[in-house]
Amino acid sequence: MKILILGVNGFIGHHLTNRIIKTTDWSVFGMDLAFDKLEKVLDNPRFHFIEGDISINKEWIEYHVKKCDVIMPLVAIATPKHYVKDPIGVFNLDFEMNLNIVKQCVKYHKRIVFPSTSEVYGASPDSEFNEDETFLVVGPIQKERWIYSCCKQMLDRVIYAYGIRDNLEFTLFRPFNWVGPRLDSLDTAKEGSSRVVTQFIAELMMKLPISLVDGGKQKRCFTYVEDGIDALMKILENRNDCCKNQIINIGNPWNDCSIKELALMLKKIFMEHPNHKNDKDFSEIAEVSAGSYYGKGYQDIYTRKPSIEKAKRLLDWTPVTGLEESLKKTLYAFLEENEGTAKPSK
Ligand code: UGA
Repeated sequence: MKILILGVNGFIGHHLTNRIIKTTDWSVFGMDLAFDKLEKVLDNPRFHFIEGDISINKEWIEYHVKKCDVIMPLVAIATPKHYVKDPIGVFNLDFEMNLNIVKQCVKYHKRIVFPSTSEVYGASPDSEFNEDETFLVVGPIQKERWIYSCCKQMLDRVIYAYGIRDNLEFTLFRPFNWVGPRLDSLDTAKEGSSRVVTQFIAELMMKLPISLVDGGKQKRCFTYVEDGIDALMKILENRNDCCKNQIINIGNPWNDCSIKELALMLKKIFMEHPNHKNDKDFSEIAEVSAGSYYGKGYQDIYTRKPSIEKAKRLLDWTPVTGLEESLKKTLYAFLEENEGTAKPSK
């Protein structure tokens, strides 16, 4: 199988590529702006990389859509700070650029495996979000945070419609707060635009206060990336067409936790880390308002738990990594990358 991955150096892209190259005989054709996360596969003859931009290298993309069996357009801005700072940039990249790729998959009759998002469920009051039943609830237009959710929802609807009318073969997957090594970088955390887990880890490392937006009562189900990749591999295998034209949540409902609990757990793991257990002072945890942290275009989501009944049924998949282990692996990898290996404790 030949797989085209656009955004191959991203968080999901590089973890998936490592797994594909390690465990299958498939080939990956990948494009990204950089290749710093791809050192494990760059020299492999089944990995073909081009440094490029999806808004510029259009001929390369069309040629490879024709050439490959499965297309995975993973390029997107996926950090809430940017939804409110640059909503048009989110629309251009996440919607318009990806729409072109979807249309090429229709034209060349290629299977598309597309990243939808837990964000499409928005502020739904359901206790568990179901792919085929839950209503998708977003806030008013002035709350620009929702542009990402709406772009993704619209693409989901376009892909679904092409599936029904033009025989586009698709699978939409919805990651729920995946975490793991190389989720976001120290640089994005310094400008305050990382997702919450890497933002808090970087603040612990830099001894800066951790900001609990609106007190941190809001909850998320954090999913370890390798569990997510297990599910994605099964989607790519697509045994007996089990994922044909399906929408599938990929999340860990047992790792449900409030942002305040998350901050406390990360601080404890950090304080026990060999590099830091003898430190004299640690980050304080401080409450801030959503308006001051994100600006007036932000609105939060208070609960977000996936139903994974469908993933279990179609893929025979369940996540296996608990919350503390997921956070520990993410934190240890982040510190190793930014401080080197653990110092022996005194
Ligand atoms: C994320 C992003 O939109 C995407 O990465 C993705 O599509 C999706 O959800 C997902 O991963 O499933 P969200 O969970 O709101 O959205 O993003 P985070 O930035 O990780 O924030 C989580 C929560 O922590 C929010 O309630 C936010 O207000 C809070 N937060 C964030 C803080 O309290 N302090 C911070 O410093 C940062």
